[in-house]
Amino acid sequence: MSKAHFGLIGLGVMGENLVLNAERNGFSSVVYNRTFSKTEAFLHSRGSGRAITGAKDLRDFVDQLERPRRILMMVKAGQPTDAVISQISPFLEEGDLLIDGGNSLFTDTERRVAELEKKSFGYIGMGVSGGAKGALEGPSMMPGGTKTSYKAIEPLLRKMAAQVEDGPCVTYIGPGGSGHFVKTVHNGIEYGIEQILAESYDLMKRVCGMQSEEIADVMAYWNGTEELGSYLVEITEACMRVKDPLDSTHVVEKIMDKAGQKGTGLWTVISALELGASVPTIYASLNARVMSSMKTQRIQAESILKKIDIKHLDFGNTSDGMKPLMDAVVLATIASYAQGMELMRRASSEYNYKLHMPSIAQIWKGGCIIRSSLLRRIQDAYNLDPQLSNLLIDPWFAEQVIRRLPGLAKVVSGAAQVGVPVPCLSSTLDYINSYRTARLPQNLVQAMRDCFGSHTYERVDKEGVFHTEWI
Ligand code: 6PG
Repeated sequence: MSKAHFGLIGLGVMGENLVLNAERNGFSSVVYNRTFSKTEAFLHSRGSGRAITGAKDLRDFVDQLERPRRILMMVKAGQPTDAVISQISPFLEEGDLLIDGGNSLFTDTERRVAELEKKSFGYIGMGVSGGAKGALEGPSMMPGGTKTSYKAIEPLLRKMAAQVEDGPCVTYIGPGGSGHFVKTVHNGIEYGIEQILAESYDLMKRVCGMQSEEIADVMAYWNGTEELGSYLVEITEACMRVKDPLDSTHVVEKIMDKAGQKGTGLWTVISALELGASVPTIYASLNARVMSSMKTQRIQAESILKKIDIKHLDFGNTSDGMKPLMDAVVLATIASYAQGMELMRRASSEYNYKLHMPSIAQIWKGGCIIRSSLLRRIQDAYNLDPQLSNLLIDPWFAEQVIRRLPGLAKVVSGAAQVGVPVPCLSSTLDYINSYRTARLPQNLVQAMRDCFGSHTYERVDKEGVFHTEWI
């Protein structure tokens, strides 16, 4: 019997869809799942009539694969991934390649790459984005590890990936845990954009008094623009329209207002703090989820701290996409990408990842959750200046900032007056205003530090390190 080209461990929905994608692209496959009944169920349903076989145990799984073996693990991040690696390692041979397609912490991947390469196995930590549909039809993939390991799976990944006008949405990201790092930042940007759209929904509903269908119409308008055309705006429109068949009310209004998280947004913010990257819009989205989960406290606080009766404000006409509100959403979205790109730039130099920013923008143009028409502009910006320190100062983005800043300020100040929280929009305004201020008030912070702790300071008028007896 001829051996299979590709092996998959973990038949969750992502695993199933990825193996169906590989098989459709001509790579015969063998699948393994911890519970064999799940493997059998898959082979008798979606996997039937295809070049896919099942394995009862890991020895059988490994035996059914051609060498060097290419094995994709789609298991839970953390300890379960380590467990699978240690269970399968005794059966692997030199040159075999393990690929972790889960949302692993990039430092775990660094460790695993080093350990596995020491044993002469290849190890790739690969971010996979696009949800279940993307996995089946074409995801965006962010593989990191050694270049030799990547080369062994490049033909497979290029066929499986989403395709955009300038190629497949996969590229070699860099060494070690760089693939998972880039996926983590992708998710941080994803958190930011989700929260920005949630804030705009809240403003349209509570401050502008709009109905769900009208809000959906604005989303449809935004999705038709170059600045906001994106998968997340598209699905926001869909989410706003769906009705409960039982009583014809909009389902979104019945959902509990508590947002969970699986870790990647938190890791983005932790990395940013460690690397000294400023990511306030992304941080605000993470904090908004934390605050949302404090439901019981918020209910109590609403009665003690007095909920404000909201006055209606005018944020423009629906027929022209609520201009000032669109300005605010565009700038906050740009800020999320800018902050994510800045974080990757810092990580690239700190960890020596040598990230190629235009390629990262390119592979995010299709398949992934943050795909959008802005990514072509981001790709252009980094092609124009590979050393660009911040997306905001690229000519195209700078023009957007200058033109749309009054709209953002109007929306944030209006929201503040009526008492509606807009954490991502307001932190974006502060981010941009801080970034475009050549002299910030941190001179006074330095004075205070020197006053109480003799921390010293630098001066603007002469070189050196100074201390003053302040009191
Ligand atoms: C993707 C997504 C996905 C991510 C979820 C969960 O790119 O397909 O980023 O990988 O795991 O969106 O994120 P939270 O549960 O933390 O929101």
